[in-house]
Amino acid sequence: MTSATGSPAARARRIVALNTAYFQAKALQSAVELGLFELLADRAADVDQIRAELGVQHRMFKDFLDALAGLDLLEVRDGRYRTAELAREFLLPTVPTYLGGTARQHARLHYHAWAQLTEALRDGKAKSAVAAQGTLAYPKQYEDLDRARQIMLHMDAHNGFTADELARELDWSRYTSFVDVGGGRGNVASRIATAHPHLRGAVFDLPALRPLFDELVATAGTAERVTFHGGDFFATDLPEADVLVFGHVLPDWPVADRRELLRRAHKAVRPGGAVVLYDAMIDPDERDPEVLLQRINHTMIRDDSSAYSLQQARDYLAEAGFAVDRVVATDTITRDHLAIGIKSA
Ligand SMILES: C[S@@+](CC[C@H](N)C(=O)[O-])C[C@H]1O[C@@H](n2cnc3c(N)ncnc32)[C@H](O)[C@@H]1O
Repeated sequence: MTSATGSPAARARRIVALNTAYFQAKALQSAVELGLFELLADRAADVDQIRAELGVQHRMFKDFLDALAGLDLLEVRDGRYRTAELAREFLLPTVPTYLGGTARQHARLHYHAWAQLTEALRDGKAKSAVAAQGTLAYPKQYEDLDRARQIMLHMDAHNGFTADELARELDWSRYTSFVDVGGGRGNVASRIATAHPHLRGAVFDLPALRPLFDELVATAGTAERVTFHGGDFFATDLPEADVLVFGHVLPDWPVADRRELLRRAHKAVRPGGAVVLYDAMIDPDERDPEVLLQRINHTMIRDDSSAYSLQQARDYLAEAGFAVDRVVATDTITRDHLAIGIKSA
């Protein structure tokens, strides 16, 4: 639709819809925080039952439920509500593609940072509690294990789809081992190992994540084949393997640190092996506002965070000594690209 179509009021509503788009975001986030989708996953209930079980007071609660039904997240029949198909697929904590963790993280952190977008645009500084912690942000946030689990749920919402693309895109039959560097609690490593039972995998990440890794691999049934190496990737040699993966890791760091990580990766990859980067890399022709706003979102959270371009991905790989194999787009939430480099045999 161009801006000239529709009546003046219809055109004005487009502006109003933009101005109030956060109503929908907050409705989704509050429903997740209240545990509404779990409550109504297996049974329908009327507004008074739901109100009593969730302990909510507001007289507009029925409107809240009806709005969620209008957003296709609840179904309503004869005054009784239950979780709709879309929410069953992505908003029940038991599903492998759970997006509730990222909804909670946006409510807790991102929403507050975006409230200061104008100031951030003016002074060029990220506006989140994470930004205030600087380079110590990860270890600081992992001091509380529940907070760390929440962060992992947020990361895994985004990396799960990429893991499945990565499992498909690389010819894993040529390799027997891999390390996911900055691999969090092991969601990606576990999914790749599940898709390719001949592989042995490892996660290299900060030691505080070990208990969460242990939980995940026990649930996924991959504890026998995926191990955890705790350490600081700027201070410790990376474990050797046929393939090293860096996913959503490089944008967190200044360019010199990215180069250092890939130099270390080149040392750790066995001859003939590969390094894989996955990130929402910048395509200079990108005009999709969703992609552009996601990119801004990262820099609202962390000062050092900056996306790199498809060409920079090639340059990073080549500078570290890898032959650039290919850079390919993936069908993932964050529209990641995979950049694959090969170490000569
Ligand atoms: C944005 S997350 C990406 C996690 C995962 N690869 C993904 O795609 O969702 C960055 C990861 O780097 C890890 N990390 C940060 N600093 C690190 C360090 N100095 N040494 C090892 N891992 C680190 C964090 O703990 C976190 O798991």
